[in-house]
Amino acid sequence: MTQSLTIRRPDDWHLHLRDGAMMETVLPETARHFGRAIIMPNLVPPVVTGADAAAYRDRILAALPADMTFEPLMTLYMTEETDPEDVRRAAASGLVKAVKLYPAGATTNSSSGVRDFDRIRGVLEVMAEIGLPLCVHGEVTDAEIDIFDREAVFIDRVLDPIRRKTPGLRVVMEHITTAQAADYVKGGDESLAATITVQHLMLERNDMLVGGMRPHYYCLPILKRRDHRDALVALATSGFERTFLGTDSAPHPTHRKEAECCAAGAFTAPIALSCIAEVFEAQGALDKFEAFVSLNGPAFYGLPVSDETRTLTKGDTVDFPATLDAGDDTVTVFDPGVPLHWHVSA
Ligand code: DOR
Ligand code: ZN
Repeated sequence: MTQSLTIRRPDDWHLHLRDGAMMETVLPETARHFGRAIIMPNLVPPVVTGADAAAYRDRILAALPADMTFEPLMTLYMTEETDPEDVRRAAASGLVKAVKLYPAGATTNSSSGVRDFDRIRGVLEVMAEIGLPLCVHGEVTDAEIDIFDREAVFIDRVLDPIRRKTPGLRVVMEHITTAQAADYVKGGDESLAATITVQHLMLERNDMLVGGMRPHYYCLPILKRRDHRDALVALATSGFERTFLGTDSAPHPTHRKEAECCAAGAFTAPIALSCIAEVFEAQGALDKFEAFVSLNGPAFYGLPVSDETRTLTKGDTVDFPATLDAGDDTVTVFDPGVPLHWHVSA
């Protein structure tokens, strides 16, 4: 039985670092393990222009502890006013690696997102021309659509029409949660990929709702029923090349999670790799683990794989703190509710 696994240093293809004191707390938790991460732009106000992204990158690098290496891969937040030429310049300079599309109102800090998808046609055409990926939060926001159906409906009503109208557009379906999304990415061509989070591989909605409601498991897209989780696990552990880890680690102050109206997001960064190793081991698929966390993402984004390594060793139960201090707040670390055994070392 495999007890130790040395792999290329992993990357996180979907990460929320926030800003200020929260960023100072959470950044080392990612940089300890991951070499690079696609940094989500949903700050308040959002990271819309190339200049915004350059300033945010500088704040991230300033907050990085001196003894750590980490490369933030910056994204722009798509609005209906986004300037295609600004996107072109930001990509050409190497600063920006993707543009993030939030349907307005779909999730945390998405109110500046897109309502009318026809208004971003010019930006999408430029992105297809230059090969810049569009990272998509794939949920419709129509009030009449049940929250558990919003991803599947988005694929039919929004994503598939956009892809048909924009041949060559590279798309990452972010944090997929359903069998429909798994089937759609499998059926796509080399322009289409999907990220999967830690919590959507480990949990189903019963874990969040049965026997009491667990706010730290509430994220968007919301956890689905078990057969969807099983479809995601099957996809991730199959070795399919166009899917990779995007943790969607999304810290909120504990009081915003344990609240009458709970903020969406799970802070998984500290234990993300231990969790994923546990999932792959349970499937007898540790031989596919490196592809999912370290190889498939760089291949899709056209970046080199890391020349560093990380080693995972199986041992006693992994200890991790329940909370971390973040300025005047704390942030609660995601606890999958099962013991973890895979320890990560440099
Ligand atoms: O659960 C989520 N939290 N989903 C998102 O799409 C955004 C994220 C956040 O920013 O907190
Ligand atoms: Zn996210």
